[in-house]
Amino acid sequence: MPRIGDTVLRLASVDSTNNYAAKGVAEGRFGHGTVILALEQTQGRGQWNREWLTAPGLDLAMSVVLLPEKLPAMAQFALAKAAALAVHGVVAELLANAGKNAAEVRIKWPNDILVDRSKVAGILIENELQGSWVASSVVGIGLNVDSRGMESGMAATSLRQETGRAMGLDPVLNKLCSTLETWWQKVAVEDETISTAYAGHLWAKGRFADFSLDGKEHRARPLDVDAVGRLIVEEEDGTVRAYGMERLRFKR
Ligand code: BTN
Repeated sequence: MPRIGDTVLRLASVDSTNNYAAKGVAEGRFGHGTVILALEQTQGRGQWNREWLTAPGLDLAMSVVLLPEKLPAMAQFALAKAAALAVHGVVAELLANAGKNAAEVRIKWPNDILVDRSKVAGILIENELQGSWVASSVVGIGLNVDSRGMESGMAATSLRQETGRAMGLDPVLNKLCSTLETWWQKVAVEDETISTAYAGHLWAKGRFADFSLDGKEHRARPLDVDAVGRLIVEEEDGTVRAYGMERLRFKR
């Protein structure tokens, strides 16, 4: 099986690398591990139908095509965890190399990557299911590299801001591909390792945080994530519940 990043397609400009990747997958043009990288996205998409802004040529906008051989649809959140862990790992390593505190890099459920309270990367995963299996997955990653951080509506940062060093896109891309490959190899094989690592880096774990639940303000304490990706929280009255992303969101 090819490794992630063996094939990298570089585009000067595209609407969204996720759209481009999904179209290529549907037409059978892209093999497993193909990476689509765009210097500019004109309609970059984030979660919850938000727009995703990147500074052309300065930030990483890429999508990775995964064609799992046997990944049950029920286990698809393992993929989201693996992607978050890969981005987390790269950001933490680059911060540590610059003498910064890598412990400040956290995964905000479901898969935002934060340094302290500022977002440095976001992930948008779009899976195609066939029956009860994941036929293909497009893992879209937006990572603020050399810009000032472009996420709208929330504090944003970039690798350059955090480390004080210009990075360049290619070294970060290469590191991301190899780290993603390492975590991808564990999906459906080492679920425990993935879950433990993900829970270990969870933002706001063990402290009360502000959410919206069904559109209403809610305070709860994140504890862990269950197998289908719901956030397990302790309520203010001490009860423990699990909520999916369609109901519960962190307040920005
Ligand atoms: C989020 O945090 O809301 C997810 C952001 C995901 C952005 C990336 S950039 C590359 C890929 N193409 C897109 O249109 N979106 C993802």
